[in-house]
Amino acid sequence: MTTTDESRALDEIKIGGLGSSRKRVEDDRFIRGKGNYTDDIVLPGMLHMEILRSPLPHARIKSIDASRAWALPGVHLVLTGEMMATRNLAWMPTLSYDTQAVLATDKVRFQGQEVACVIADDPYIAKDACELIEVDYEPLPPIVNPWQGLAEDAPIIRDDKTGQDSNVIYLWEVGDQAGTDRAFEQADVVSKLELHYPRSHPSPIECCGSVADFNRATSKLTVYMTTQAPHIIRAAVAMVAELPEHMIRIVSPDIGGGFGNKVPVYPGYVCSILASILLERPVKWIEDKTGNLISTGFARDIYLRGEMALRKDGKILGVRMHTDADHGAFFSDAQPSKFKIGLMHSAFAAYDIPAAHLTARGVYTNKAPGGVAYRCSFRVTEAMFFQERMVQAAADDLGMDQAAFRRMNFVRDDDFPHRTPFGFLTDSGQYAKCLDVGLKAIDYENFRIEQAQARKQGRLLGLGISTMTEPLGAGNSREYDILGIKMFDSADLKVHMTGKAILRTGAKTQGQGHETTWAQIVAHELGIPADDVVVEEGDTDTAPFGMGTYASRSTPVAGAAVAMVARKIRAKARKLAAHLLEVSEEDIEWELGRFYVRSAPARGVSIQECAMAAYSNMPDGMEPGLENTAYYDPPNLTWPFAVYIVTVEVDKETGVWDVLRMVAVDDCGVRINPMIVEGQIMGGLTEAYAMASMQFITFDAEGNCVGSNYMDYLLPSAWETPGYELHSEVVTPCPHHPIGAKGIGECAAVGGPAAFVNAVMDALGGTGVRNIDMPVLPDRVWEALTYHRDVSGAPPIRQD
Ligand code: CDP
Repeated sequence: MTTTDESRALDEIKIGGLGSSRKRVEDDRFIRGKGNYTDDIVLPGMLHMEILRSPLPHARIKSIDASRAWALPGVHLVLTGEMMATRNLAWMPTLSYDTQAVLATDKVRFQGQEVACVIADDPYIAKDACELIEVDYEPLPPIVNPWQGLAEDAPIIRDDKTGQDSNVIYLWEVGDQAGTDRAFEQADVVSKLELHYPRSHPSPIECCGSVADFNRATSKLTVYMTTQAPHIIRAAVAMVAELPEHMIRIVSPDIGGGFGNKVPVYPGYVCSILASILLERPVKWIEDKTGNLISTGFARDIYLRGEMALRKDGKILGVRMHTDADHGAFFSDAQPSKFKIGLMHSAFAAYDIPAAHLTARGVYTNKAPGGVAYRCSFRVTEAMFFQERMVQAAADDLGMDQAAFRRMNFVRDDDFPHRTPFGFLTDSGQYAKCLDVGLKAIDYENFRIEQAQARKQGRLLGLGISTMTEPLGAGNSREYDILGIKMFDSADLKVHMTGKAILRTGAKTQGQGHETTWAQIVAHELGIPADDVVVEEGDTDTAPFGMGTYASRSTPVAGAAVAMVARKIRAKARKLAAHLLEVSEEDIEWELGRFYVRSAPARGVSIQECAMAAYSNMPDGMEPGLENTAYYDPPNLTWPFAVYIVTVEVDKETGVWDVLRMVAVDDCGVRINPMIVEGQIMGGLTEAYAMASMQFITFDAEGNCVGSNYMDYLLPSAWETPGYELHSEVVTPCPHHPIGAKGIGECAAVGGPAAFVNAVMDALGGTGVRNIDMPVLPDRVWEALTYHRDVSGAPPIRQD
């Protein structure tokens, strides 16, 4: 850095620009308990809604008698599927071109499915009334995994769909089958692996909810709700409820964690809206924790099978993958419509592999709709997990060092842009450098010596490496759409006459800190201090259109739109500066927050002076004001890269494993706010640790969901969570993003799990155990160690 560069960087830090670890402005209200969540919304005359859920996973509904519920004092309305059907609202479309029952009519298809709703004066009366509704069920055999669903004599779960004569939802494939076959013919060694990535749940602290408020006098419907994508919800409500879109206002206030859970449209939202229209009063629905855990957007639940064609010197020649995904009773994933199994084919994007082929099958089961991307860009978590477990198995089969095998097969720095074996175009990265930083940090060579010595003493140490590159920032609009709506985003910036500004975007923060970081982009582009920029998101009446925040797409898309709109403002401010300085535009130079005359640098005007001129002294013919909107359609996805390395010690007697150290090297391009980035990584690693070590939601043979409360579904507390050593020294700016940033939100949750599992498997090296499926619970490790066998599938349920 030259001295001028350094002083510019310092100036930028002073105003809270790029690279400043500015404190999160939103935390001021959060830590004072002054956040405004959906459940904080109280409107005059508001009623409360509760949902009656099915106790059975699969049953025909013979009758529903709600007369006793109607009779309970304080009850205003009871909604059943039959009533919804008269308004054509018993079923709704999902984000994956399927249909989902709003309230069950013919059958219930999973335990916890919505059967009826009661709207009453308070939530307690509504809950009591739900218990008075009598539903006569005729139980049907439940299907709790894809294999049962695929059996020839399996009952058809979706017999509501004409022509659906099996439980298969889709068959899909991508890649080069013939080329891959040829690679396998040439292989010296073929390495194989089968895995199950268990069903998990995003489990945000705040559950889902809505407050619907239909005003008959104005015909306007306002819905306050927990959604990560307010504009998409507005469109969905317009289409499903056949209401005019301009009369719908969706407000997403503060959100207590989303992680993908708050992307789908849930029956509770639809019912509260209909109830408000029918009753002409505001109706609030707030889900309880069990309701959230048992019925809303699950993730993963996928079986992965694969094989790798290898040359004996370690070169990977080809990969075959097959997935069987358990989607539950309705295919309701949010994912780009072209890709049935999301971006699973991002697997192996960081490796230089000549040929690959992926086949995917989706199956209906009697479980809540699953497959939403829990902190994951459309199935990349499963893709990266499979990739890194497969890579470890292949290196072991070849007898090669884990790090050397990866380094040998990585895409090299000078190979970009690189076409991945499944057809993505990656554009930048320093994969080997990240690995080297990680290996040095963990003291790789010495750990291997220590590990060998420990083994002689009967102690089991292990080291697991996981790398990942993830496609973040969907679209571009050529390839990415949800239900035909192209994936782009926008930002709207208004600079007031005193130089203060308000920025609005179509994204929606759920804790990621957009209010802090978007202002930093404006500060970087315009030199307006970040503290002078207020950021608003989530109100469709004021925010410009956007596809919402999920899949770590905000910085790559909405963040880019923020930079672009600020540049539009700067272009106009330049004209104002030329006018104020009485020179031509061509004679003007820009430095952070100031235009000056090239030949006389002391003569200049600040961005704030330009803002005042936009309202008080604009040149003849110029449109007054200093505001603009930018729509951003990214040319490509952004591809961050990370290396996670974990060391563990496994106790032979009990199977308990402790994390000794965890090193994380993340390259997400330019970091807007390094502190926020580190927070994102630490949160993601903690979720990764939870999935690897303790979390699962499973089902017994009768289809009962085990894991619908925090006694069974575990969240790691500070006590269990290991310490993390974070490294930020590798920065590869994204070549097409206006400020060089790549997404980061999900990286650690995506790449982290394999590092933990690989570490335990490494500790078990030499025992003949090839795989223990997650969660790697102590009893599973003990079983593997004791009986020298793999432990596969979801953990069994105790039957006592
Ligand atoms: O879409 P989502 O906000 O979940 O994910 P993201 O775009 O990866 O951003 C998560 C948070 O990290 C946001 O506050 C970003 O502005 C911030 N971030 C950053 O400071 N630098 C980056 N290179 C990427 C994200």
